[in-house]
Amino acid sequence: MAPLDATAVAQPNIALVKYWGKRDTALNLPATGSISITLDGLRTRTRVRFSPDLGADSLTLNGAAAPEKLPRITAVLDLLRARAGMTLFAEVRSTNDFPTGAGLASSASAFAALVVAADAALGLGLSPERLSEFARRGSGSAARSVFGGFVEMSRGERPDGSDAVAAPLLAPAEWPLTVVVAVTSDAAKATSSGAGMELSRRTSPLYAAWTASSAAALAEARAAIERRDFAALADISEHSSTTMHAVMLSSRPALIYWNGATVECLHLIRYMRETSGVATFSTVDAGPQVKAVCLPENAARVADALRQVPGVLDVRTTGLGPGARLIDPLIDTGGAA
Ligand code: PMV
Repeated sequence: MAPLDATAVAQPNIALVKYWGKRDTALNLPATGSISITLDGLRTRTRVRFSPDLGADSLTLNGAAAPEKLPRITAVLDLLRARAGMTLFAEVRSTNDFPTGAGLASSASAFAALVVAADAALGLGLSPERLSEFARRGSGSAARSVFGGFVEMSRGERPDGSDAVAAPLLAPAEWPLTVVVAVTSDAAKATSSGAGMELSRRTSPLYAAWTASSAAALAEARAAIERRDFAALADISEHSSTTMHAVMLSSRPALIYWNGATVECLHLIRYMRETSGVATFSTVDAGPQVKAVCLPENAARVADALRQVPGVLDVRTTGLGPGARLIDPLIDTGGAA
């Protein structure tokens, strides 16, 4: 008997080699692979409860009804319901302890937690690879948050997307980097990553060069991770991030996810590395927040410096964390879900 009720926790991940563009929008298949690190400190907690008493799916996000986000949730639940051969509706209650939809990858942790909780509630017992595939249907980056530490997402070749899944490269303890997140805005972003990617694919003159450069970037990052070579990882990761933003900026109309404080933080991180030998590099996603990836011994210094930048609202420091997992809500009472 399926328990029909389960709670899972997942953390966002930050891509070091980015993906920006899809090869199939219906199946949500990425145009390129990507490499990420799963964070520890920022948590999404999601409870999924299927019941014959419900007349429709519902979503509560951070304590408030969020009907505008429900269609994507229902689409992923429909895939899992079809797999389980059942049609019950579900109540989904999710809480984030960090800003939602502002470039902190809340959709990654959201869909990873959703599939892990729904899989358990329905008693499916899917493999991590299949959980990653279902998470990808909600959000491309969510496929990576199923796993902890360093993770590589494959572009996949099959038309059905069954090989467009993530896989772990290194566990968090095998190279325990620290990430300092400088929050420069808590507003939700104006253009979703899905819409932004399609705009870039259709209009950016740099898009073809960007996707063509991905395989070499992935190989370079993979090798740097294997050697635990921070300087090499810094070089390829900053290049991947700034090149992605060049694609965004060269879209028509331009996608400008940065604000003034974002740019100041990028200068500061580079200045600290180049003039003071601090082991840190920056990466920015589809939002204005800056993530400084650091060797742990440098993180406090980077956090102190970022806190001084005008326009930085909050600075959070986190290590690398595990993948999405079930929790017992009676034992783990953090969060409100
Ligand atoms: O798949 P989405 O919608 O979560 O988009 C992720 C896009 C970036 O964060 C900008 C890059 C990436 O690889 O995570």
